[in-house]
Amino acid sequence: MTYTLITGASSGIGKEFARVFAQKGHHLILVARRIHLLEHLKKELLKDNNIKIELFPVDLANPSSAKQLFETITARGLLVDHLINNAGVGSWGPFVEADWQEQLRLIQLNITTLTELTYLFARQMLTYHRGTILNISSTASFGGGPYMALYYASKAYVTTFSEALAEELKDSPINIQVLCPGPTRTGFEKAAGMKHAKMFTWVPTAMPQAVAQAGYDLMVSNRKVKYHSANTHVFNLTARLGPRSLWRKAAAIINGIPRKK
Ligand SMILES: NC(=O)c1ccc[n+]([C@@H]2O[C@H](COP(=O)([O-])OP(=O)(O)OC[C@H]3O[C@@H](n4cnc5c(N)ncnc54)[C@H](OP(=O)(O)O)[C@@H]3O)[C@@H](O)[C@H]2O)c1
Repeated sequence: MTYTLITGASSGIGKEFARVFAQKGHHLILVARRIHLLEHLKKELLKDNNIKIELFPVDLANPSSAKQLFETITARGLLVDHLINNAGVGSWGPFVEADWQEQLRLIQLNITTLTELTYLFARQMLTYHRGTILNISSTASFGGGPYMALYYASKAYVTTFSEALAEELKDSPINIQVLCPGPTRTGFEKAAGMKHAKMFTWVPTAMPQAVAQAGYDLMVSNRKVKYHSANTHVFNLTARLGPRSLWRKAAAIINGIPRKK
């Protein structure tokens, strides 16, 4: 029996991933901090789907979390053949005014834990000759993003790391993929403390259900990278064809200049 592991499954895109994969009959391992939300989701999914669901309440911004999670899953004999590294947070405001511990937690969650989970599960998948890893990046990965500098940079890492690994492993039995959604209606804006940003009002937003479906479609294909929706294709083209200064100036406006306290 194999499982699909989804990080950040308690809300937003991750929760919708859980719904899509459950409908397709996948057994699930769901990870997030808010266990009550995971339990609620488990109850909902078990009503309509004859699958197994394991819950792991884990703070993935804890430096030892990836190794501990991997070891616990392995010790319980649960085999992961689909891994969705979805958990991530934003950070909004001038970088030099931000709380350093919060920045470190973002780096740990968005970059280090994602990388370590990819490392650990990719190695295991190679020994079983099967598996797919989907990393959730963002259109924010296409260029610098003033007032969300660390978040954009963390997603640039996710995209280029995943693309490189996909190429390294292209002749192996496992597949590495990356999905780049644009602004999506989830708990992200609130979690990032974005109070005056125009990202979710000026830019057309996607629904998390559509993003998760795009991620599922990508995982059952052999493709490596997917930009969800027409908007994200436009962002990608703009970033590639225009001067980099144009992207970062537009991003500064969309991210919104935080008001002085
Ligand atoms: N929404 C957008 O506009 C957008 C656009 C492009 C890409 N993305 C990416 O999509 C992914 C999902 O975000 P979302 O939009 O669905 O936001 P969301 O609704 O805020 O969901 C974030 C998920 O990550 C989990 N998470 C956050 N910190 C965690 C931690 N320390 N340990 C474990 N889990 C943690 C949260 O669960 P708990 O709080 O329960 O731990 C939650 O399940 C992120 O990687 C984000 O960067 C979002």
